[in-house]
Amino acid sequence: MEEYSDFEILIPYKKIKKRTKKIAKQINHDFKNEEVVFLGVLNGSFMFISELFKHIKIKCQISFVKVASYRNTESTGDIKELIGINEDLEGKSVIIIEDIIDTGRTMSKVISDLKKLKPKKISIATLLVKPSKLEYNIPIDYEGFSIKDDFVIGFGLDYNGLHRNSKDILIFNAEKS
Ligand code: IMP
Ligand code: MG
Repeated sequence: MEEYSDFEILIPYKKIKKRTKKIAKQINHDFKNEEVVFLGVLNGSFMFISELFKHIKIKCQISFVKVASYRNTESTGDIKELIGINEDLEGKSVIIIEDIIDTGRTMSKVISDLKKLKPKKISIATLLVKPSKLEYNIPIDYEGFSIKDDFVIGFGLDYNGLHRNSKDILIFNAEKS
């Protein structure tokens, strides 16, 4: 059985729940007269999305996208590509839902790919952000928690695909995993 008592709790579920509800209320207020398309970035955001959606009251759709990384044989860096958009987003208000913004590279790719689909507006909601690591200028509209440069797991976030199934957000410690 997976037990997480060895890891230090950074943000307990109770706090996540409370903060997420607040964000949902803010979104309900900001978009009260608009139809919105939420775009959840899988896999990491699935728990945040479901928590958020318990409290979203506006008229909306939700769709899920993925950022696929593959290694470019020509150069050193990974190429990132946004996959899974089947909707017509032209003229629509889109809210991207992410688990964490670290350097901001993933989010900046998501934004630039989305812009090509000519939405009316793109807003960003992320559960976590690591300000000390940010390398891109990302306009974050809704932010759950600002955290230090620790690698975190749980509430959907993983380390090598594991540990998404903790209710609390924990500080990952390789020695204890
Ligand atoms: P970026 O550096 O902002 O592009 O972050 C890329 C991705 O790395 C995020 O979407 C997460 O999937 C992952 N990531 C960054 N920091 C953490 C962390 O502390 N825990 C788990 N995943 C992370
Ligand atoms: Mg992610």
